[in-house]
This record gives sequence, C-alpha cells and structure tokens, in this order.
Amino acid sequence: MSDKTPATVDFDHHSPEFFENRHEKWADVRKCPIAHNSQYGGFWVASGYEEVAAVARDSATFTSKYVADDPDGFEYIGIMGVPRIPGIPPALIAEVEGPTHVALRRMLNPFMLPSAVESYRPFIEACATWFMDQVIESGSMEVIRDFTGPVPAVLTMKMVGLPCESWASYAEVFHSVNAYKPGTPEFDRSRTMMSDMITELLRVAEERRHDPKDDIISRLVEMRVDDNRPFSDAEIIGVLWNLIGGGIDTTTSLTALTMSHLDEHHDVRDRLINEPDLLAPATEEYLRYTSVNETLTRTVTKDVELSGQTMHRGDFLMMSWLAANFDESVFENPNDVIVDRSPNPHLAFGVGPHRCIGMHIARALFGVMMREILSRIPDFIVDREATKFYRGNPELAGVVVMPLSFTPGTARGIPRPF
Ligand code: HEM
Repeated sequence: MSDKTPATVDFDHHSPEFFENRHEKWADVRKCPIAHNSQYGGFWVASGYEEVAAVARDSATFTSKYVADDPDGFEYIGIMGVPRIPGIPPALIAEVEGPTHVALRRMLNPFMLPSAVESYRPFIEACATWFMDQVIESGSMEVIRDFTGPVPAVLTMKMVGLPCESWASYAEVFHSVNAYKPGTPEFDRSRTMMSDMITELLRVAEERRHDPKDDIISRLVEMRVDDNRPFSDAEIIGVLWNLIGGGIDTTTSLTALTMSHLDEHHDVRDRLINEPDLLAPATEEYLRYTSVNETLTRTVTKDVELSGQTMHRGDFLMMSWLAANFDESVFENPNDVIVDRSPNPHLAFGVGPHRCIGMHIARALFGVMMREILSRIPDFIVDREATKFYRGNPELAGVVVMPLSFTPGTARGIPRPF
C-alpha cells in the first residue's frame, strides 16, 4: 500500500460561499475523486461516482456505525456529517451494522416492499386529494405547510403506528431541524418539542407491548437482538427517529424542489401534463437532479487504498451523493433535467447495505403528489420573492417555505381519510 502525500481539497462545506456555488465546487472537487480536506479536524472526501459507490458498498471498511463512547476508545462519526451535530438522537437503522442492522431491515421489509407500498396507495391518494381540497378553492397555498409536508407525514404516522392526528408536530420538528440552523428560534422550538415526541413514542411502545397491532412499533418492541434481549428505550427512540426522519421531510423536499424547477421550465411541466407516462422516468431524474440527501459520512475501519489514495483506520470520510449524481463520466449533461433520461443509475437513495429502505414509498408519495398537482393546479406560480431554500445544511437540500398561487379549483369533498 503506497503512503504518498495525499491529494488535497480545501473547502468549508458549512460556509455560505460553498453552499451558494456547490454544484461548481463539487465539479472542481470531483477532479480528485478521493482527496483529503484538512478542515474540521481532517476528513476524506469521495466525490466521483465510482468512488462514492465503492465506499457505500463496502460497509466493513467504511462503516456507518455510530457509538457515542466506544469502550475501546475508537471514534466513530456515524453518517450525519462532519462535525456531527450534538443532541440529535443517533439514527439507529442507518448507524448500526452487522446482525442487528440485518434484523432491523428484515423486520421493516414487509412495510417497505413494493407490494406493501401498493397497499398504501389508496390512502396516499385520499390524503393528497383531501389536503388539496382544503386549499384549492382559495387559489393559494404555502406548499410545505399545506401539501408536500402533510401527505408524507400522515403516511409515516400510520405506517409506524402513531396517531395520524399528531402529524403536524412531527412534520414541524423534522422540517425545522433540517431547514434551520441551531440557535434559530425555529430550531430551538423543535428541540423543545422533541422531548414531548419522545415521551409519546415511548408511551405508544409501551401500549404495543401489551396490545400489539399491525404496525412497525409493535414489531420493533417484539424484536430480540444480541443474546435474545429486547431493544432498550433509547434504541427504540433511535430506530423510530431514523424512520420518521427518513419518511417525513425527504419526499417533501423532493416534491417542492421539483415544483420549483417546473415553475421555471414550463416546457417540462407541459410535457409531464400531456404525457403522464413520463412521470416514472421523471421521478428518477428529479431524484438525481435534486439529490435531496447531498452528503453523508463514514468511518474508515482499516487502512485501505482507493483511487490511489491511502486512508487509515480511524479516518473520517464524507461522500457526496450530489457530486456522484452530477459526474459527467456517467451522466451526459448532468446540469440539465432530461425527464426521459435512460439509463439513470443515480445514487440518490444510496447503494449497498444501507440503501434507502423507504425508496419505494418515496417514489409512490412523489408520484401521487405530482399527479395531484399537475391535474388540479397545473398553472401554479411560485412566489419567488417569498420562497426560501435550505441554506448551509450540507446533508440535506430542501425548501423552507414556498407560497404558490393558482387558478382556484373545486374541492372534491372527500371525507377526511385519517
Ligand atoms: C426523496 C426521498 C428520500 C431520499 C433522497 C432518501 C435518501 C436516502 C439515502 C441516500 C440513504 C442511504 C444512507 C446511507 O447510505 O448511509 C437512505 C437511507 C434510509 N432511508 Fe431514505 N431517502 C428518502 C426517503 C425515505 C423514506 C420515505 C423513508 C421511510 C419511510 C426513508 C427511510 C430511510 C431509512 C430508515 C434509511 C436507513 C437504511 C439503512 O441504513 O439500512 N427514506 N435514504
């Protein structure tokens, strides 16, 4: 293994300058697809498509694991960025490895497979219609609050086994944690709300121990790991936090960012309206183009060489799905939205053992919400002055608020589905 001077890149992914120009910056960083950045204590950066995929597939060498205080003194960073934001519960699906990770995915699969997702479809459609009904006669809405936030949130509540009426507080907390920086009133308010949510999650978990239902919480409290022990309360919170966080704000952002693009590209919008079959390949293209989950991190567990660079046990690494999804050696004209792009091997859902377990749900939610929008408010106009995008969150892209106006339509008057 050669131990020559590493290729270096120097950028501060938390700085506004990097954020504002991140597509150009990543294109520049990608010239050295594996390189070392000395900021924040030092970390490797994987930015080429092949390199990002290689890292994500090899979870033995590049682990996702997070352990707060490892008894062996080894420092794991987990997946949530360099530096890790303190005080957020660990993501105890994404940040575990080995038999417990396999067992968790096996438990979740029946709720996540395409057949399960098809069984949710009528509910998703009813929710989309109902939420649209609430605003369509007024000719305006704030799309995150009124539509793209609520629909995924209600489905997540139902699937997990939480009261659907609680959707608004969960949607607010996960949206605020992603959209605002620590120290802002919105972020701090969400921190306060978190403790009420944790209390509710543990109360429902306790109820299901005595009265199991057909939901994820019931299966989770039944699970046994290691030497046949149940999960602790902290582990239950970590698993549910990961699942609810994955389910709520991600598809919200994908749909809102897509609407923002369609508002600026009426030719694409007209094609999607006139050729509804295009929505399937367009879903993949908007997943690639928006790359809602922009970056994640890993810890190197043993010395390894990749792309001519030698990484050492204990090093941290950031991989950029965003950079990989714009790699021109894989995607022709990556900066253009080509709604019928084929093939489209994007990495928006990751790859390897931690590949997004909610990807079929995400596709279904996006498809249903987009059909509702394109069929009921096809002439929506985004109020660009009032629209705010996530700023300076290197892990997630999204829309904070996005007011719309449109020609008022008629409510269908369906009963509230939850
Ligand atoms: C646009 C929508 C979504 C995007 C872009 C997205 C992206 C991702 C990515 C990139 C990963 C890989 C993490 C890694 O390699 O460390 C992941 C994992 C995960 N996602 Fe998603 N996700 C989306 C929607 C969802 C939904 C709807 C759910 C739940 C219903 C969900 C739940 C999860 C979970 C639990 C994991 C961890 C899987 C594991 O580590 O085995 N995601 N997601």
